[in-house]
Amino acid sequence: MARLSVSDLLKTEPTSQDVTVEGWVRTFRSNRFIALNDGSTINNIQCVVDFENLDETTIKSINTGSAIKVTGQLVESQGKGQSVEIQVSDIFIHGGADPETYPIQPKKHSLEFLREKAHLRVRTSTFSAVMRLRSALSFAIHSYFQQNGFYYMHAPIITGSDAEGAGEMFRVSTLDAKNPPLKEDGDIDYKQDFFGKETNLTVSGQLEAETYAMGLGKVYTFGPTFRAENSNTSRHLAEFWMIEPEMAFFDLDANMDLAEDFIKWVIGYVLENCQDDLAFLEKRLLDEEKSKPQAERSEMALIEKLKFVVDNNFKRVSYTEAIDILRNSKPNKKKKFEYPINEWGADLQSEHERFLVEKHFKCPVILFDYPAKIKAFYMRLNEDGKTVRAMDVLFPGIGEIVGGSQREERLDVLKEKMAALNIPEEELWWYLDLRKFGTAVHSGFGLGFERLVLFVTGMGNIRDVIPFPRTPQNAEF
Ligand code: 4AD
Ligand code: MG
Repeated sequence: MARLSVSDLLKTEPTSQDVTVEGWVRTFRSNRFIALNDGSTINNIQCVVDFENLDETTIKSINTGSAIKVTGQLVESQGKGQSVEIQVSDIFIHGGADPETYPIQPKKHSLEFLREKAHLRVRTSTFSAVMRLRSALSFAIHSYFQQNGFYYMHAPIITGSDAEGAGEMFRVSTLDAKNPPLKEDGDIDYKQDFFGKETNLTVSGQLEAETYAMGLGKVYTFGPTFRAENSNTSRHLAEFWMIEPEMAFFDLDANMDLAEDFIKWVIGYVLENCQDDLAFLEKRLLDEEKSKPQAERSEMALIEKLKFVVDNNFKRVSYTEAIDILRNSKPNKKKKFEYPINEWGADLQSEHERFLVEKHFKCPVILFDYPAKIKAFYMRLNEDGKTVRAMDVLFPGIGEIVGGSQREERLDVLKEKMAALNIPEEELWWYLDLRKFGTAVHSGFGLGFERLVLFVTGMGNIRDVIPFPRTPQNAEF
């Protein structure tokens, strides 16, 4: 007897041979109809039980959440919405689920409630669809780079440097936090720590990826990164996954071309390969939006929105042009931004980014050539001496989804910049070596994976697109 998934069975013609399938009961109606799901598809297979054939203990153990094995004939379905169903001849109960205490009941649970049940929420249709899409997007990302001559590079998780220079690191230490060894001056003596120096969880694999790009040509990382920024928003996690391609001999224009092509390709991949899950999530969103006033509903349904991104050019705009637009815009009824842009050089807030994308250009936007002062130390200084070859990709409903740049490849300029920012050369001697030995124009970017998953699934909170979200005051699981 072949072991088939629910997804396989739903594509199979009715057969007189017995089939067997294992999964979790979604619902059990009228002591007769089991909707069974095994995670292989958003759809359930209906299993029709003949009461007479089964003993009472078995029937009692068939509850929402029970794990069961079903054997029977695959027949044409009488019900609507499915072509086949299983006429059950035998059921084996792997494990029951007490209806009094099993939290995931067949009713609409709030996402907030399900966040507290993060270990069980993947058994709901919404989370299983999101997590299958997350998996498909990961595969698409690797496929894209592998097909385009990139090598997958594993950047270290524990590092001694702060790649972004933002000081938002989680310390890694074996020292007794309550009673650390002290130096004569009273500071903690990290020489006595495991690595003999201060270390932290990586905020970005970029600097290490640069070293590999300057030997392998084109590389990418795809791994967890950590930020101890205390931002309790629907777009920030303390632990998130980042994809960081890094390319030798790419300037900023080539970097922007790659970012756009890459994003379109991976979204195109799921449009082609994850239609059932996307259709389910689209319907979920439409239902949710029915309760909102017309003006707040989105103009496009989910799949249409994804197709729009794939089919249209991203708008490329310099920071300076964007500032002009923002200064001359009336964003809302109050005709003011919460943080008005008064001067060139100000950092953009998410309200500005979203205005540009959602109201002004109405398409994804790539902003480039930012003021040096608001960007990281490693970005290539422009000839004007005040802007750097940085780029951010901004997405509707999300804001910044990608941050990247052409890197400063000139040793003297980089050293000057580090000195100005008090970054000790001893800490990044190896990074400076790249500029001493065979330096070259090179570029890269970082895509926040969960922000991509948010966009593709239409979910509203980043906590709902990663299995176990890490946010301030929250690492229960
Ligand atoms: O703009 P960021 O900080 O850029 C870097 O880390 C560069 N080293 C990347 C590079 O050039 N290789 O972060 C890149 C992206 C952001 O655009 C955003 O999508 C995501 O990472 N990101 C976060 N996602 C979730 N939670 C957070 N706290 C995030 N911080 C950044
Ligand atoms: Mg950024």
